[in-house]
Amino acid sequence: MAARIIDGKKIAGLTRADIAARAARLEAETGVKPGLAVIIVGDDPASQVYVRNKKRACEEAGMYSVVIEMPADTTQAELMEQIEQLKKDEKIHGILVQLPLPKHLDEDAVIAAIPPEKDVDAFHPANTGKIMIGDYDFLPCTPAGVMKLLEYEGIEIAGKECVVVGRSNIVGKPQAMLLLHANGTVTVCHSKTKDLAEVTRRADILVVAIGRANFITGDMIKPGAVVIDVGMNRLEDKKLCGDVDFASCSQVAGAITPVPGGVGPMTITMLLENTLTAAKKAASKKL
Ligand code: GUN
Repeated sequence: MAARIIDGKKIAGLTRADIAARAARLEAETGVKPGLAVIIVGDDPASQVYVRNKKRACEEAGMYSVVIEMPADTTQAELMEQIEQLKKDEKIHGILVQLPLPKHLDEDAVIAAIPPEKDVDAFHPANTGKIMIGDYDFLPCTPAGVMKLLEYEGIEIAGKECVVVGRSNIVGKPQAMLLLHANGTVTVCHSKTKDLAEVTRRADILVVAIGRANFITGDMIKPGAVVIDVGMNRLEDKKLCGDVDFASCSQVAGAITPVPGGVGPMTITMLLENTLTAAKKAASKKL
């Protein structure tokens, strides 16, 4: 039987409407309009699309948004100075530096320069540490979006076999931690995992974030599993596809996210949620 399709676009739309209502209430009650600054260095076309989408989503949610475009030859000192200015800017509650940065820039140093209370990506070591102990202000946007999809779909996590394929700092590692906090039994797979299919076939909930087009095929999943595809790959014919081969997996899974229209719209939604959280904290300090 074909799997139920998890409609990330619909769930993102409903969640964004709720965020917009809460942002409007915050502004009416405190005068604080949530504000997000996005810094983009260089002219990578994919990054430019992501940044444009973030700005548009902010504005649609009634938030203030600025995009700071810096040339590809920006120095580390210039980028640090820009972050320093945004740190002091009271209109800005969230600062996001779009990754990847050009090779000559030190990404870790840039992430560490963003003040943790404005770190709406939740990439700063202080925030990643807080996630580890389960006491956090912000969650990284993509894993948080995945959790929101599971919650919306009424998918129980406690006691389930959860397999995360991919161990990046942005998705795989925090995703594993969030599933663990929700009492899943969590396994993380990566490029050195010996028999990947043997592990993925054990999963009741499978989250895939490796950046390899159509990598997970129907024979690698358990019948009835929930399959969440974080991948976003562009094929030679310019079509987007995930890390999961949708055609074969949707015949075996119980529920599955499509690409596009699955996890993607949730990532920006959680960025809006984090910006609102940061603005609320700033507003409560002013009172
Ligand atoms: N590049 C791709 N995804 C992300 C993200 O979630 N945050 C930032 N800052 N850059 C990205």
